Amino acid sequence: MAVAPEFIEELRARTTLSDLVGKRVKLVPKGGRLAGLCPFHSEKTPSFYVNDSEGFYHCFGCGVSGDAISFLRESDGMDFMEAVRYLADVAGMAVPNSAPQDSEKAEQRKQAIDALEFAAQFYQKNLDSPVGNAASEYIRSRGLDAHIISQFMLGYAPRSGLYPSLQQRQFPKELIVQAGLAGVSERDGQPYDYFRDRLMFPIQNRQGRVIAFGARALGDAQPKYLNSPEGPTFSKKAVLYGWTQARALLRQGLPLLVVEGYMDVIAVSASGVAATLAPLGTALTEQQIQLVWKLHPEPILCFDGDAAGQKAASRAIERILPLLEPGRTVRIASLPAGQDPDDILKSEGEEGLRRILTAASGILDTLWQRKFSEYRLEDARTQPGARAAFWADMRQLVKSISHNQTRTAYLDDVEYRIGAMRAALKGARGGDSGSYASGGYASGGGYQAGQMVRTRRPKTGVRVQYQAVLALLVRFPELFSDFAEELAMMQFEDNELEITKKQIIDLLIATPDLDEAAVRYHLEYSGSNTVVEDLFGSDMTARLDASFKQGSTGWTAARAKEILSEILDRLLHKTRRTGQAPSNRS
Ligand code: GTP
Ligand code: MN
Repeated sequence: MAVAPEFIEELRARTTLSDLVGKRVKLVPKGGRLAGLCPFHSEKTPSFYVNDSEGFYHCFGCGVSGDAISFLRESDGMDFMEAVRYLADVAGMAVPNSAPQDSEKAEQRKQAIDALEFAAQFYQKNLDSPVGNAASEYIRSRGLDAHIISQFMLGYAPRSGLYPSLQQRQFPKELIVQAGLAGVSERDGQPYDYFRDRLMFPIQNRQGRVIAFGARALGDAQPKYLNSPEGPTFSKKAVLYGWTQARALLRQGLPLLVVEGYMDVIAVSASGVAATLAPLGTALTEQQIQLVWKLHPEPILCFDGDAAGQKAASRAIERILPLLEPGRTVRIASLPAGQDPDDILKSEGEEGLRRILTAASGILDTLWQRKFSEYRLEDARTQPGARAAFWADMRQLVKSISHNQTRTAYLDDVEYRIGAMRAALKGARGGDSGSYASGGYASGGGYQAGQMVRTRRPKTGVRVQYQAVLALLVRFPELFSDFAEELAMMQFEDNELEITKKQIIDLLIATPDLDEAAVRYHLEYSGSNTVVEDLFGSDMTARLDASFKQGSTGWTAARAKEILSEILDRLLHKTRRTGQAPSNRS
Protein backbone atom coordinates (compact mmCIF):
# COMPACT_ATOMS: atom_id res chain seq x y z
CA MET A 1 0.00 0.00 0.00
CA ALA A 2 1.25 3.43 -0.87
CA VAL A 3 2.47 5.27 2.18
CA ALA A 4 5.75 7.16 1.87
CA PRO A 5 8.65 5.52 3.73
CA GLU A 6 9.48 8.91 5.23
CA PHE A 7 6.07 9.00 6.82
CA ILE A 8 6.54 5.56 8.35
CA GLU A 9 9.92 6.60 9.68
CA GLU A 10 8.47 9.72 11.25
CA LEU A 11 5.67 7.64 12.72
CA ARG A 12 8.13 5.22 14.32
CA ALA A 13 10.16 8.06 15.73
CA ARG A 14 7.11 9.65 17.31
CA THR A 15 5.85 6.41 18.83
CA THR A 16 7.03 5.40 22.27
CA LEU A 17 7.08 1.66 21.93
CA SER A 18 6.94 0.93 25.65
CA ASP A 19 3.72 2.96 25.91
CA LEU A 20 2.16 0.93 23.18
CA VAL A 21 3.41 -2.44 24.45
CA GLY A 22 2.76 -1.42 28.06
CA LYS A 23 -0.98 -1.32 27.37
CA ARG A 24 -0.92 -5.05 26.76
CA VAL A 25 2.09 -6.28 28.71
CA LYS A 26 3.23 -5.25 32.15
CA LEU A 27 6.76 -3.95 31.70
CA VAL A 28 9.31 -3.66 34.48
CA PRO A 29 12.93 -2.49 34.43
CA LYS A 30 15.30 -5.42 34.12
CA GLY A 31 19.03 -5.07 33.59
CA GLY A 32 18.70 -1.46 32.49
CA ARG A 33 15.98 -2.31 29.99
CA LEU A 34 12.23 -2.84 30.09
CA ALA A 35 11.03 -6.41 30.12
CA GLY A 36 7.77 -8.30 30.49
CA LEU A 37 6.07 -11.64 29.88
CA CYS A 38 6.11 -12.26 26.15
CA PRO A 39 2.63 -11.86 24.65
CA PHE A 40 3.55 -14.23 21.81
CA HIS A 41 4.35 -17.35 23.75
CA SER A 42 3.51 -18.56 27.21
CA GLU A 43 6.22 -18.07 29.80
CA LYS A 44 6.62 -17.56 33.51
CA THR A 45 9.64 -15.27 33.66
CA PRO A 46 10.00 -12.17 31.49
CA SER A 47 12.17 -12.57 28.41
CA PHE A 48 10.43 -9.99 26.24
CA TYR A 49 12.47 -6.78 26.02
CA VAL A 50 11.48 -3.39 24.71
CA ASN A 51 14.05 -0.91 23.50
CA ASP A 52 12.51 2.56 23.28
CA SER A 53 15.49 4.32 21.80
CA GLU A 54 15.48 2.09 18.75
CA GLY A 55 11.74 1.42 18.76
CA PHE A 56 12.38 -2.30 18.78
CA TYR A 57 11.24 -5.33 20.80
CA HIS A 58 12.77 -8.76 21.08
CA CYS A 59 11.85 -11.92 22.95
CA PHE A 60 14.76 -14.11 23.97
CA GLY A 61 12.34 -16.92 24.70
CA CYS A 62 10.63 -17.35 21.35
CA GLY A 63 12.75 -15.14 19.13
CA VAL A 64 10.08 -12.70 17.92
CA SER A 65 11.20 -9.19 17.28
CA GLY A 66 9.91 -6.12 15.52
CA ASP A 67 8.72 -2.54 15.75
CA ALA A 68 5.48 -0.80 16.71
CA ILE A 69 3.79 -1.73 13.45
CA SER A 70 4.69 -5.38 13.63
CA PHE A 71 3.67 -5.43 17.28
CA LEU A 72 0.14 -4.33 16.38
CA ARG A 73 0.00 -6.78 13.52
CA GLU A 74 1.10 -9.67 15.68
CA SER A 75 -0.67 -8.89 18.90
CA ASP A 76 -3.89 -7.37 17.62
CA GLY A 77 -4.00 -8.93 14.21
CA MET A 78 -4.15 -5.56 12.44
CA ASP A 79 -3.01 -5.34 8.87
CA PHE A 80 -0.28 -2.92 7.88
CA MET A 81 -2.53 0.05 7.10
CA GLU A 82 -4.64 -0.45 10.19
CA ALA A 83 -1.51 -0.39 12.31
CA VAL A 84 -0.28 2.74 10.55
CA ARG A 85 -3.60 4.52 11.06
CA TYR A 86 -3.75 3.47 14.70
CA LEU A 87 -0.26 4.75 15.43
CA ALA A 88 -0.83 7.96 13.45
CA ASP A 89 -3.91 8.56 15.55
CA VAL A 90 -1.98 8.18 18.78
CA ALA A 91 0.87 10.34 17.48
CA GLY A 92 -1.54 12.99 16.18
CA MET A 93 -0.33 12.64 12.61
CA ALA A 94 -2.51 12.58 9.51
CA VAL A 95 -1.97 9.65 7.18
CA PRO A 96 -1.29 11.00 3.71
CA ASN A 97 -3.91 9.94 1.19
CA SER A 98 -3.19 6.57 -0.28
CA ALA A 99 -3.84 5.76 -3.92
CA PRO A 100 -7.56 6.06 -4.77
CA GLN A 101 -7.96 2.49 -6.04
CA ASP A 102 -6.48 1.25 -2.75
CA SER A 103 -9.01 3.07 -0.67
CA GLU A 104 -11.75 1.93 -3.00
CA LYS A 105 -10.70 -1.69 -2.51
CA ALA A 106 -10.44 -1.18 1.21
CA GLU A 107 -13.95 0.25 1.24
CA GLN A 108 -15.26 -2.75 -0.69
CA ARG A 109 -13.62 -5.14 1.72
CA LYS A 110 -15.07 -3.28 4.63
CA GLN A 111 -18.57 -3.48 3.18
CA ALA A 112 -18.16 -7.15 2.35
CA ILE A 113 -17.15 -7.84 5.93
CA ASP A 114 -20.17 -5.89 7.16
CA ALA A 115 -22.38 -8.08 5.01
CA LEU A 116 -20.66 -11.26 6.20
CA GLU A 117 -21.05 -10.26 9.82
CA PHE A 118 -24.68 -9.45 9.25
CA ALA A 119 -25.04 -12.92 7.73
CA ALA A 120 -23.33 -14.54 10.72
CA GLN A 121 -25.87 -12.90 13.03
CA PHE A 122 -28.69 -13.90 10.74
CA TYR A 123 -27.54 -17.53 10.87
CA GLN A 124 -27.15 -17.41 14.64
CA LYS A 125 -30.69 -16.09 15.04
CA ASN A 126 -32.02 -18.80 12.77
CA LEU A 127 -30.35 -21.48 14.83
CA ASP A 128 -32.34 -20.29 17.82
CA SER A 129 -35.61 -20.07 15.96
CA PRO A 130 -37.98 -22.95 15.10
CA VAL A 131 -36.63 -23.23 11.57
CA GLY A 132 -33.26 -24.15 13.11
CA ASN A 133 -34.62 -26.89 15.36
CA ALA A 134 -33.12 -29.79 13.47
CA ALA A 135 -29.75 -28.06 13.20
CA SER A 136 -29.81 -27.17 16.84
CA GLU A 137 -30.61 -30.73 17.79
CA TYR A 138 -27.83 -31.96 15.57
CA ILE A 139 -25.26 -29.70 17.24
CA ARG A 140 -26.34 -30.85 20.65
CA SER A 141 -26.25 -34.48 19.59
CA ARG A 142 -22.58 -33.85 18.92
CA GLY A 143 -22.12 -32.76 22.48
CA LEU A 144 -21.74 -29.00 22.09
CA ASP A 145 -23.24 -26.68 24.68
CA ALA A 146 -24.60 -23.15 24.39
CA HIS A 147 -21.35 -21.59 25.53
CA ILE A 148 -19.19 -23.16 22.85
CA ILE A 149 -21.89 -22.60 20.23
CA SER A 150 -21.80 -18.90 20.92
CA GLN A 151 -18.00 -18.78 21.21
CA PHE A 152 -17.70 -20.12 17.69
CA MET A 153 -20.79 -18.20 16.56
CA LEU A 154 -22.33 -21.33 15.07
CA GLY A 155 -25.49 -20.78 13.11
CA TYR A 156 -28.00 -22.26 10.74
CA ALA A 157 -28.59 -21.21 7.14
CA PRO A 158 -32.25 -21.74 6.27
CA ARG A 159 -33.27 -22.64 2.73
CA SER A 160 -33.79 -18.98 1.93
CA GLY A 161 -34.16 -15.59 3.54
CA LEU A 162 -30.66 -14.17 3.83
CA TYR A 163 -30.64 -12.35 0.51
CA PRO A 164 -33.81 -10.31 1.13
CA SER A 165 -32.58 -9.40 4.61
CA LEU A 166 -29.30 -8.15 3.18
CA GLN A 167 -31.15 -6.17 0.55
CA GLN A 168 -33.31 -4.59 3.17
CA ARG A 169 -30.08 -3.41 4.79
CA GLN A 170 -29.13 -1.69 1.51
CA PHE A 171 -26.27 -4.03 0.66
CA PRO A 172 -25.93 -3.91 -3.15
CA LYS A 173 -26.45 -7.12 -5.09
CA GLU A 174 -22.90 -7.18 -6.55
CA LEU A 175 -21.45 -6.88 -3.08
CA ILE A 176 -23.57 -9.72 -1.73
CA VAL A 177 -22.55 -11.94 -4.61
CA GLN A 178 -18.92 -10.95 -4.33
CA ALA A 179 -18.93 -11.71 -0.61
CA GLY A 180 -20.01 -15.23 -1.51
CA LEU A 181 -23.36 -14.97 0.21
CA ALA A 182 -25.48 -15.28 -2.90
CA GLY A 183 -25.21 -16.91 -6.29
CA VAL A 184 -27.01 -15.81 -9.41
CA SER A 185 -29.29 -18.23 -11.23
CA GLU A 186 -28.13 -18.90 -14.77
CA ARG A 187 -31.70 -19.46 -15.81
CA ASP A 188 -33.32 -16.19 -14.77
CA GLY A 189 -30.51 -14.08 -13.34
CA GLN A 190 -32.17 -14.11 -9.93
CA PRO A 191 -29.98 -14.17 -6.85
CA TYR A 192 -30.30 -17.09 -4.43
CA ASP A 193 -28.74 -17.81 -1.03
CA TYR A 194 -25.41 -19.57 -1.49
CA PHE A 195 -25.71 -21.55 1.75
CA ARG A 196 -28.98 -23.41 2.22
CA ASP A 197 -30.01 -25.76 4.99
CA ARG A 198 -26.56 -26.01 6.46
CA LEU A 199 -24.83 -25.70 9.79
CA MET A 200 -22.72 -22.54 9.57
CA PHE A 201 -19.19 -22.08 10.87
CA PRO A 202 -18.14 -18.43 10.55
CA ILE A 203 -14.47 -18.12 9.63
CA GLN A 204 -12.83 -15.16 11.31
CA ASN A 205 -9.66 -13.33 10.46
CA ARG A 206 -7.07 -12.61 13.11
CA GLN A 207 -8.93 -9.52 14.25
CA GLY A 208 -12.01 -11.61 14.82
CA ARG A 209 -13.91 -10.24 11.81
CA VAL A 210 -16.02 -12.71 9.85
CA ILE A 211 -14.50 -13.13 6.39
CA ALA A 212 -16.07 -16.37 5.17
CA PHE A 213 -18.07 -19.43 6.16
CA GLY A 214 -17.64 -23.15 6.31
CA ALA A 215 -20.95 -24.96 6.09
CA ARG A 216 -21.81 -28.53 6.94
CA ALA A 217 -24.68 -30.42 5.37
CA LEU A 218 -27.14 -31.70 7.93
CA GLY A 219 -28.28 -34.73 6.04
CA ASP A 220 -26.54 -36.55 3.25
CA ALA A 221 -26.42 -33.53 0.96
CA GLN A 222 -23.22 -33.16 -1.01
CA PRO A 223 -20.71 -31.78 -0.58
CA LYS A 224 -20.54 -32.51 3.13
CA TYR A 225 -18.70 -29.25 3.68
CA LEU A 226 -19.11 -26.18 1.51
CA ASN A 227 -16.80 -23.19 1.92
CA SER A 228 -17.31 -19.60 0.83
CA PRO A 229 -15.77 -18.96 -2.57
CA GLU A 230 -12.49 -17.07 -2.55
CA GLY A 231 -12.95 -13.34 -2.83
CA PRO A 232 -11.73 -9.94 -1.73
CA THR A 233 -11.96 -10.87 1.94
CA PHE A 234 -11.03 -14.50 1.78
CA SER A 235 -8.16 -16.63 0.58
CA LYS A 236 -8.36 -20.06 2.14
CA LYS A 237 -4.61 -20.65 1.90
CA ALA A 238 -3.94 -17.68 4.16
CA VAL A 239 -6.48 -18.31 6.91
CA LEU A 240 -6.76 -20.70 9.80
CA TYR A 241 -10.02 -21.64 11.45
CA GLY A 242 -10.25 -20.88 15.18
CA TRP A 243 -7.51 -18.25 15.45
CA THR A 244 -9.07 -15.86 17.93
CA GLN A 245 -10.43 -18.65 20.11
CA ALA A 246 -7.05 -20.40 20.09
CA ARG A 247 -5.25 -17.22 21.01
CA ALA A 248 -7.49 -16.82 24.04
CA LEU A 249 -6.95 -20.43 25.15
CA LEU A 250 -3.19 -20.18 24.73
CA ARG A 251 -3.10 -17.51 27.41
CA GLN A 252 -4.02 -20.34 29.80
CA GLY A 253 -0.83 -22.10 28.82
CA LEU A 254 -2.45 -24.91 26.83
CA PRO A 255 -0.60 -26.70 24.04
CA LEU A 256 -1.57 -25.80 20.47
CA LEU A 257 -3.01 -28.51 18.28
CA VAL A 258 -3.49 -28.29 14.52
CA VAL A 259 -6.30 -30.51 13.31
CA GLU A 260 -8.13 -31.16 10.10
CA GLY A 261 -11.74 -30.21 10.60
CA TYR A 262 -14.04 -27.53 11.94
CA MET A 263 -15.74 -29.94 14.28
CA ASP A 264 -12.37 -31.03 15.65
CA VAL A 265 -11.42 -27.45 16.43
CA ILE A 266 -14.65 -26.92 18.28
CA ALA A 267 -14.68 -30.21 20.17
CA VAL A 268 -11.07 -29.92 21.27
CA SER A 269 -11.49 -26.29 22.32
CA ALA A 270 -14.57 -27.25 24.31
CA SER A 271 -12.63 -30.01 26.07
CA GLY A 272 -10.01 -27.56 27.30
CA VAL A 273 -7.26 -30.06 26.47
CA ALA A 274 -5.60 -27.83 23.88
CA ALA A 275 -5.99 -24.67 21.87
CA THR A 276 -6.82 -25.68 18.31
CA LEU A 277 -6.59 -24.49 14.72
CA ALA A 278 -7.43 -26.03 11.39
CA PRO A 279 -6.71 -25.19 7.77
CA LEU A 280 -9.81 -24.97 5.64
CA GLY A 281 -10.07 -28.41 4.10
CA THR A 282 -6.62 -28.34 2.48
CA ALA A 283 -3.16 -29.41 3.58
CA LEU A 284 -1.36 -26.87 5.73
CA THR A 285 0.28 -24.26 3.47
CA GLU A 286 3.62 -22.66 4.16
CA GLN A 287 1.85 -19.42 4.91
CA GLN A 288 -0.38 -21.17 7.43
CA ILE A 289 2.46 -22.85 9.26
CA GLN A 290 4.16 -19.46 9.57
CA LEU A 291 0.93 -18.13 11.06
CA VAL A 292 0.69 -21.04 13.49
CA TRP A 293 4.18 -20.20 14.72
CA LYS A 294 3.02 -16.72 15.57
CA LEU A 295 0.91 -18.34 18.26
CA HIS A 296 3.15 -21.14 19.45
CA PRO A 297 6.77 -22.20 18.93
CA GLU A 298 5.94 -25.91 18.94
CA PRO A 299 2.44 -26.72 17.73
CA ILE A 300 1.37 -30.35 17.53
CA LEU A 301 0.09 -31.45 14.14
CA CYS A 302 -2.20 -34.44 14.12
CA PHE A 303 -2.63 -36.97 11.41
CA ASP A 304 -4.84 -39.96 10.93
CA GLY A 305 -2.96 -43.20 11.60
CA ASP A 306 -4.14 -44.71 8.30
CA ALA A 307 -1.92 -44.88 5.23
CA ALA A 308 -3.28 -41.66 3.72
CA GLY A 309 -2.81 -39.80 6.99
CA GLN A 310 0.76 -41.00 7.29
CA LYS A 311 1.51 -39.86 3.75
CA ALA A 312 0.04 -36.49 4.56
CA ALA A 313 2.28 -36.33 7.63
CA SER A 314 5.36 -37.02 5.50
CA ARG A 315 4.40 -34.33 3.04
CA ALA A 316 3.77 -31.84 5.82
CA ILE A 317 7.13 -32.61 7.39
CA GLU A 318 8.92 -32.16 4.10
CA ARG A 319 7.22 -28.80 3.67
CA ILE A 320 8.08 -27.70 7.20
CA LEU A 321 11.71 -28.86 7.34
CA PRO A 322 13.15 -25.95 5.32
CA LEU A 323 11.37 -23.51 7.64
CA LEU A 324 12.68 -24.85 10.95
CA GLU A 325 14.47 -22.38 13.17
CA PRO A 326 15.14 -22.05 16.86
CA GLY A 327 11.71 -21.44 18.38
CA ARG A 328 9.94 -22.73 15.28
CA THR A 329 9.29 -26.42 15.16
CA VAL A 330 6.39 -28.86 15.36
CA ARG A 331 5.52 -32.17 16.94
CA ILE A 332 3.52 -34.84 15.20
CA ALA A 333 0.76 -36.84 16.83
CA SER A 334 -0.56 -39.94 15.19
CA LEU A 335 -4.18 -40.83 15.74
CA PRO A 336 -5.60 -44.35 15.66
CA ALA A 337 -6.57 -45.17 12.07
CA GLY A 338 -9.83 -43.66 10.94
CA GLN A 339 -10.36 -41.45 13.97
CA ASP A 340 -10.20 -37.70 14.28
CA PRO A 341 -9.65 -35.83 17.55
CA ASP A 342 -13.39 -35.34 17.96
CA ASP A 343 -13.87 -39.12 17.75
CA ILE A 344 -11.10 -39.68 20.30
CA LEU A 345 -12.75 -37.31 22.74
CA LYS A 346 -15.99 -39.22 22.32
CA SER A 347 -14.47 -42.68 22.70
CA GLU A 348 -11.64 -42.10 25.15
CA GLY A 349 -12.36 -38.76 26.73
CA GLU A 350 -9.98 -35.94 27.53
CA GLU A 351 -7.49 -38.39 29.01
CA GLY A 352 -7.34 -40.25 25.73
CA LEU A 353 -6.61 -37.12 23.74
CA ARG A 354 -4.07 -35.95 26.30
CA ARG A 355 -2.26 -39.26 26.05
CA ILE A 356 -2.01 -38.89 22.31
CA LEU A 357 -0.65 -35.36 22.61
CA THR A 358 1.87 -36.44 25.23
CA ALA A 359 3.11 -39.16 22.93
CA ALA A 360 3.53 -36.76 19.98
CA SER A 361 6.94 -37.26 18.40
CA GLY A 362 9.50 -34.74 17.29
CA ILE A 363 9.71 -33.94 13.60
CA LEU A 364 12.91 -35.95 13.11
CA ASP A 365 11.62 -38.99 15.01
CA THR A 366 8.54 -39.05 12.87
CA LEU A 367 10.45 -38.63 9.65
CA TRP A 368 12.94 -41.31 10.66
CA GLN A 369 10.17 -43.78 11.48
CA ARG A 370 8.19 -43.02 8.34
CA LYS A 371 11.21 -43.44 6.09
CA PHE A 372 12.38 -46.49 7.99
CA SER A 373 9.20 -48.28 7.13
CA GLU A 374 9.04 -46.80 3.62
CA TYR A 375 12.37 -48.52 2.96
CA ARG A 376 10.95 -51.70 4.53
CA LEU A 377 13.83 -51.91 6.93
CA GLU A 378 11.80 -53.85 9.43
CA ASP A 379 11.61 -56.65 6.90
CA ALA A 380 14.48 -59.09 7.42
CA ARG A 381 14.65 -59.79 3.71
CA THR A 382 15.44 -56.20 2.82
CA GLN A 383 18.97 -55.93 1.46
CA PRO A 384 21.67 -53.69 2.93
CA GLY A 385 21.39 -51.35 -0.06
CA ALA A 386 18.02 -50.20 1.22
CA ARG A 387 19.68 -49.14 4.43
CA ALA A 388 22.19 -47.09 2.46
CA ALA A 389 19.39 -45.47 0.46
CA PHE A 390 17.49 -44.72 3.66
CA TRP A 391 20.52 -42.99 5.18
CA ALA A 392 21.13 -40.96 2.04
CA ASP A 393 17.50 -39.92 1.93
CA MET A 394 17.51 -38.84 5.57
CA ARG A 395 20.66 -36.79 5.11
CA GLN A 396 19.25 -35.18 1.99
CA LEU A 397 15.96 -34.25 3.64
CA VAL A 398 17.61 -32.69 6.64
CA LYS A 399 19.88 -30.68 4.35
CA SER A 400 16.81 -28.80 3.17
CA ILE A 401 16.69 -26.92 6.49
CA SER A 402 17.66 -23.33 5.62
CA HIS A 403 18.68 -22.15 9.06
CA ASN A 404 22.38 -23.02 9.37
CA GLN A 405 22.73 -24.04 12.98
CA THR A 406 19.43 -25.86 13.01
CA ARG A 407 20.51 -27.81 9.95
CA THR A 408 23.80 -28.73 11.60
CA ALA A 409 22.03 -29.89 14.75
CA TYR A 410 19.65 -32.06 12.76
CA LEU A 411 22.44 -33.49 10.65
CA ASP A 412 24.31 -34.41 13.82
CA ASP A 413 21.22 -36.13 15.11
CA VAL A 414 20.81 -38.09 11.90
CA GLU A 415 24.45 -39.18 12.02
CA TYR A 416 24.01 -40.24 15.62
CA ARG A 417 21.02 -42.37 14.71
CA ILE A 418 22.81 -43.91 11.76
CA GLY A 419 25.72 -44.68 14.08
CA ALA A 420 23.41 -46.25 16.65
CA MET A 421 21.75 -48.34 13.99
CA ARG A 422 25.10 -49.63 12.75
CA ALA A 423 26.36 -50.27 16.26
CA ALA A 424 23.27 -52.22 17.19
CA LEU A 425 23.62 -54.27 14.04
CA LYS A 426 27.28 -55.00 14.69
CA GLY A 427 26.49 -55.88 18.29
CA ALA A 428 23.87 -58.30 17.13
CA ARG A 429 26.10 -59.88 14.51
CA GLY A 430 29.25 -59.99 16.60
CA GLY A 431 27.71 -61.09 19.87
CA ASP A 432 27.98 -64.73 20.75
CA SER A 433 24.30 -64.99 21.33
CA GLY A 434 23.45 -64.96 17.70
CA SER A 435 22.33 -62.65 15.00
CA TYR A 436 19.47 -60.37 14.39
CA ALA A 437 17.71 -60.20 11.16
CA SER A 438 18.80 -57.01 9.47
CA GLY A 439 16.88 -53.89 10.23
CA GLY A 440 14.41 -53.28 12.94
CA TYR A 441 16.66 -50.97 14.87
CA ALA A 442 15.46 -47.54 15.71
CA SER A 443 12.43 -47.91 13.54
CA GLY A 444 10.13 -47.10 16.39
CA GLY A 445 7.54 -48.92 14.38
CA GLY A 446 6.37 -52.45 14.70
CA TYR A 447 8.69 -55.29 13.96
CA GLN A 448 7.11 -57.59 11.45
CA ALA A 449 6.14 -60.66 13.37
CA GLY A 450 6.20 -62.81 10.27
CA GLN A 451 9.91 -62.29 9.86
CA MET A 452 10.91 -63.98 13.06
CA VAL A 453 10.95 -67.48 11.88
CA ARG A 454 11.17 -70.08 14.56
CA THR A 455 8.67 -70.45 17.30
CA ARG A 456 10.26 -71.40 20.54
CA ARG A 457 8.86 -71.79 23.95
CA PRO A 458 11.42 -71.29 26.65
CA LYS A 459 11.01 -72.72 30.11
CA THR A 460 8.44 -70.76 32.04
CA GLY A 461 10.99 -69.46 34.51
CA VAL A 462 13.06 -67.93 31.74
CA ARG A 463 10.04 -66.40 30.10
CA VAL A 464 9.17 -64.67 33.34
CA GLN A 465 12.64 -63.24 33.49
CA TYR A 466 12.31 -61.89 29.95
CA GLN A 467 9.03 -60.35 30.91
CA ALA A 468 10.54 -58.80 34.00
CA VAL A 469 13.30 -57.23 31.91
CA LEU A 470 10.80 -55.67 29.54
CA ALA A 471 8.42 -54.55 32.25
CA LEU A 472 11.26 -52.83 34.12
CA LEU A 473 12.49 -51.16 30.95
CA VAL A 474 9.07 -49.82 30.25
CA ARG A 475 8.77 -48.53 33.79
CA PHE A 476 12.21 -46.96 33.75
CA PRO A 477 13.04 -46.14 30.13
CA GLU A 478 15.91 -43.96 31.36
CA LEU A 479 17.78 -47.18 32.24
CA PHE A 480 17.82 -48.29 28.62
CA SER A 481 21.13 -46.70 27.74
CA ASP A 482 22.85 -48.61 30.55
CA PHE A 483 21.81 -51.93 29.07
CA ALA A 484 21.48 -51.16 25.37
CA GLU A 485 24.38 -53.33 24.35
CA GLU A 486 23.40 -56.38 26.38
CA LEU A 487 19.84 -56.09 25.19
CA ALA A 488 20.90 -55.88 21.57
CA MET A 489 23.24 -58.84 21.92
CA MET A 490 20.85 -61.12 23.62
CA GLN A 491 18.11 -62.99 21.87
CA PHE A 492 15.03 -63.83 23.84
CA GLU A 493 14.02 -67.36 23.03
CA ASP A 494 10.44 -66.39 22.71
CA ASN A 495 9.34 -64.81 19.49
CA GLU A 496 6.68 -62.56 20.88
CA LEU A 497 8.85 -61.25 23.65
CA GLU A 498 11.78 -60.87 21.26
CA ILE A 499 9.64 -58.76 18.96
CA THR A 500 8.46 -56.63 21.83
CA LYS A 501 12.03 -56.24 23.02
CA LYS A 502 13.04 -55.00 19.58
CA GLN A 503 10.17 -52.58 19.53
CA ILE A 504 11.30 -51.15 22.81
CA ILE A 505 14.92 -50.92 21.62
CA ASP A 506 13.84 -49.24 18.39
CA LEU A 507 11.67 -46.81 20.23
CA LEU A 508 14.27 -45.81 22.78
CA ILE A 509 17.05 -45.46 20.23
CA ALA A 510 14.84 -43.21 18.15
CA THR A 511 13.56 -41.22 21.11
CA PRO A 512 15.81 -41.58 24.12
CA ASP A 513 13.84 -39.38 26.47
CA LEU A 514 10.43 -41.04 26.35
CA ASP A 515 8.80 -41.59 29.69
CA GLU A 516 6.80 -44.59 30.81
CA ALA A 517 3.46 -43.29 29.59
CA ALA A 518 4.85 -42.54 26.15
CA VAL A 519 6.56 -45.93 25.81
CA ARG A 520 3.38 -47.71 26.82
CA TYR A 521 1.36 -45.65 24.44
CA HIS A 522 3.66 -46.49 21.54
CA LEU A 523 3.70 -50.17 22.34
CA GLU A 524 -0.01 -50.39 22.74
CA TYR A 525 -0.58 -48.69 19.44
CA SER A 526 2.15 -50.36 17.44
CA GLY A 527 1.93 -53.93 18.43
CA SER A 528 -1.05 -54.17 20.69
CA ASN A 529 -1.12 -57.82 21.56
CA THR A 530 -1.44 -59.99 24.58
CA VAL A 531 2.30 -59.90 25.26
CA VAL A 532 2.24 -56.18 25.79
CA GLU A 533 -0.90 -56.40 27.86
CA ASP A 534 0.75 -59.03 30.04
CA LEU A 535 3.64 -56.71 30.70
CA PHE A 536 1.43 -54.01 32.08
CA GLY A 537 -1.11 -56.20 33.78
CA SER A 538 -1.56 -56.31 37.54
CA ASP A 539 -0.22 -59.87 37.44
CA MET A 540 3.14 -58.69 36.31
CA THR A 541 3.22 -55.85 38.79
CA ALA A 542 2.39 -58.21 41.64
CA ARG A 543 4.95 -60.72 40.45
CA LEU A 544 7.68 -58.12 40.16
CA ASP A 545 6.84 -56.79 43.57
CA ALA A 546 6.86 -60.25 45.09
CA SER A 547 10.03 -61.45 43.42
CA PHE A 548 12.22 -58.43 43.72
CA LYS A 549 10.90 -55.83 46.03
CA GLN A 550 12.73 -55.84 49.29
CA GLY A 551 10.97 -54.47 52.29
CA SER A 552 8.09 -52.17 51.65
CA THR A 553 9.89 -49.37 49.83
CA GLY A 554 8.49 -48.59 46.40
CA TRP A 555 10.30 -49.13 43.18
CA THR A 556 13.17 -46.78 42.44
CA ALA A 557 15.22 -46.50 39.28
CA ALA A 558 18.29 -47.51 41.25
CA ARG A 559 16.65 -50.71 42.49
CA ALA A 560 15.31 -51.48 39.02
CA LYS A 561 18.81 -51.03 37.65
CA GLU A 562 20.27 -53.52 40.10
CA ILE A 563 17.66 -56.05 39.26
CA LEU A 564 17.93 -55.57 35.52
CA SER A 565 21.64 -56.05 35.71
CA GLU A 566 21.17 -59.19 37.82
CA ILE A 567 18.67 -60.79 35.46
CA LEU A 568 20.56 -59.86 32.32
CA ASP A 569 23.74 -61.30 33.73
CA ARG A 570 22.00 -64.50 34.59
CA LEU A 571 20.38 -64.75 31.16
CA LEU A 572 23.62 -64.02 29.32
CA HIS A 573 25.51 -66.64 31.30
CA LYS A 574 22.90 -69.18 30.71
CA THR A 575 23.09 -68.58 26.97
CA ARG A 576 26.88 -68.91 27.06
CA ARG A 577 26.83 -72.03 29.16
CA THR A 578 24.28 -73.91 27.23
CA GLY A 579 25.56 -72.58 23.93
CA GLN A 580 22.14 -71.87 22.60
CA ALA A 581 23.33 -69.17 20.28
CA PRO A 582 21.44 -69.69 17.09
CA SER A 583 23.35 -69.05 13.91
CA ASN A 584 22.47 -68.21 10.34
CA ARG A 585 19.14 -66.79 11.09
CA SER A 586 18.85 -63.92 8.71
P1 GTP B 1 -17.69 -34.24 10.87
O1 GTP B 1 -18.04 -35.31 9.90
O2 GTP B 1 -18.81 -33.29 11.07
O3 GTP B 1 -17.10 -34.76 12.14
O4 GTP B 1 -16.61 -33.34 10.23
P2 GTP B 1 -15.09 -33.62 10.04
O5 GTP B 1 -14.41 -32.32 10.21
O6 GTP B 1 -14.64 -34.77 10.85
O7 GTP B 1 -15.09 -34.01 8.51
P3 GTP B 1 -14.00 -34.69 7.62
O8 GTP B 1 -13.01 -35.43 8.44
O9 GTP B 1 -14.79 -35.42 6.61
O10 GTP B 1 -13.29 -33.47 6.91
C1 GTP B 1 -12.30 -32.69 7.50
C2 GTP B 1 -12.31 -31.32 6.91
O11 GTP B 1 -12.14 -31.41 5.50
C3 GTP B 1 -13.62 -30.58 7.09
O12 GTP B 1 -13.69 -29.90 8.31
C4 GTP B 1 -13.62 -29.65 5.90
O13 GTP B 1 -12.81 -28.50 6.16
C5 GTP B 1 -12.96 -30.47 4.84
N1 GTP B 1 -13.98 -31.16 4.01
C6 GTP B 1 -14.59 -32.33 4.27
N2 GTP B 1 -15.48 -32.64 3.30
C7 GTP B 1 -15.42 -31.64 2.41
C8 GTP B 1 -16.09 -31.38 1.19
O14 GTP B 1 -16.93 -32.13 0.74
N3 GTP B 1 -15.75 -30.23 0.54
C9 GTP B 1 -14.81 -29.36 1.02
N4 GTP B 1 -14.53 -28.25 0.34
N5 GTP B 1 -14.17 -29.58 2.18
C10 GTP B 1 -14.45 -30.70 2.87
MN1 MN C 1 -15.25 -35.68 12.55
